[in-house]
Amino acid sequence: MGSQLKKAQFTFQGKVFELPVLSGTEGPDAVDISALYKETGLFTYDPGFMSTASCTSAITFIDGDEGRLLYRGYSIASLAENCDFLEVAYLLLYGDLPNVAQKQIFIKDINLHSLLHEQMSGFYQGFRRDAHPMAIMVGVVGALSAFYHDSLDIHDPKQRELASFRLIAKMPTMAAMAYKYSIGQPFLYPRNDLCYAGNFLRMMFGLPSEEYEINPVLVKAMDRILILHADHEQNASTSTVRLAGSSGANPFACIASGIAALWGPAHGGANEAVINMLQEIGDLKRIPEFINRAKDKNDSFRLMGFGHRVYKNYDPRATVLRESCHEVLSELRIKNDPLLDLALELERIALQDEYFIEKKLYPNVDFYSGIIFRAMGVPTSMFTVLFALARSVGWVAQWQEMIAEPTQKIGRPRQLYQGHPERAFVSVHNRTTASQ
Ligand code: SDX
Repeated sequence: MGSQLKKAQFTFQGKVFELPVLSGTEGPDAVDISALYKETGLFTYDPGFMSTASCTSAITFIDGDEGRLLYRGYSIASLAENCDFLEVAYLLLYGDLPNVAQKQIFIKDINLHSLLHEQMSGFYQGFRRDAHPMAIMVGVVGALSAFYHDSLDIHDPKQRELASFRLIAKMPTMAAMAYKYSIGQPFLYPRNDLCYAGNFLRMMFGLPSEEYEINPVLVKAMDRILILHADHEQNASTSTVRLAGSSGANPFACIASGIAALWGPAHGGANEAVINMLQEIGDLKRIPEFINRAKDKNDSFRLMGFGHRVYKNYDPRATVLRESCHEVLSELRIKNDPLLDLALELERIALQDEYFIEKKLYPNVDFYSGIIFRAMGVPTSMFTVLFALARSVGWVAQWQEMIAEPTQKIGRPRQLYQGHPERAFVSVHNRTTASQ
């Protein structure tokens, strides 16, 4: 728990109340309201959690005003530049970067679980070929709890670690299988001699009939994208995982709930929505029309890939992704990707527009990721699956942190009731109007 050095006072109905104020390592102080209802009979009201910290955490820190993102204290730019994804996964899970021996053991532990129970591949046959791959992922990840009974006991640290290894190791296999199923190609088994990102790319784009040629530029770009998407404080899907975990649900069910929450276009589904939006804009000349629609209060249209609940500056992940974008397109000799040209022009115009400046709307992580995925040949419907693949490391780390928290209790928000006061029952024969 943060240090309790300060107090906050407020007066309600002539009575003065005092509440402890907690300070973290960085970021805003927090008024501890956990005793508020008991002491004052009052709830707080904050439906979008705009001003509410749901937990303490030592994993990730975002400075929204400065556009800074730290994983266990390391800047995202330094990690994206110098690490590979499993190194960052180790950092998020255990709190420090691994040394050479620790890294080798961790890679071995993950590789040991990269195969999926052979019977689970039958699940995919039950889906339509055109099922959205996120629908498949919610189903198959949840079903892991029907197969891996020796890693369901959340009170056993060894079983928690085994479940974590299985989730991190199997997500690429399951994600690639969802894609292969959609195009009617055979599943490829993982290859433990390949790195995590390379293994994933091969399972996605390789064929059993020929050797898959690993492209180091694409592997580096995929690895970097996975690192950038790995964790992000208490976003909607991570909060969903924590809430599910607080009830004692098994780890596979918790991660499946995170995948479901990530699917929304306001959250992880935005990368798919960005490409769909760029395709709808279609032409540089139509950009002002869409910028105006985004500003029109009577139009529900929003500029996908722009804005963020926390970042009121450039999303540092977008900065790194913008660079990767150019690297991947030049490696693939994609000279003029019309969608990238559109994206760059849209970004240029939006960043100069009064409305976007006043509302502090900058490109976020989803603005560029879709363009890279598309250049790699990933279909739009798979973009959020790749986000879920990366974020499953953060979900697992946050779930572990929550379960290990000694004061952890089931999450159960209250509400401000605005329904009918209690009223007498009226039998159906006496109900004159629908409103009764
Ligand atoms: C992710 O939380 C995380 O950390 C998420 C994430 C992660 O790594 O887990 O970073 C991943 O989800 C990134 C965000 C991807 N979503 C999109 O790109 C969808 C488009 N963005 C918006 O829907 C919106 O910006 C949100 C949902 C991301 C944030 O919305 P907030 O914080 O609830 O802000 P808001 O809706 O209250 O907007 C504030 C104002 C509003 O105008 P007013 O009511 O004050 O007049 O800004 C406007 C909004 O209308 N606004 C936009 C806009 N985003 C906000 N206007 C036009 N286009 C936009 N994109």
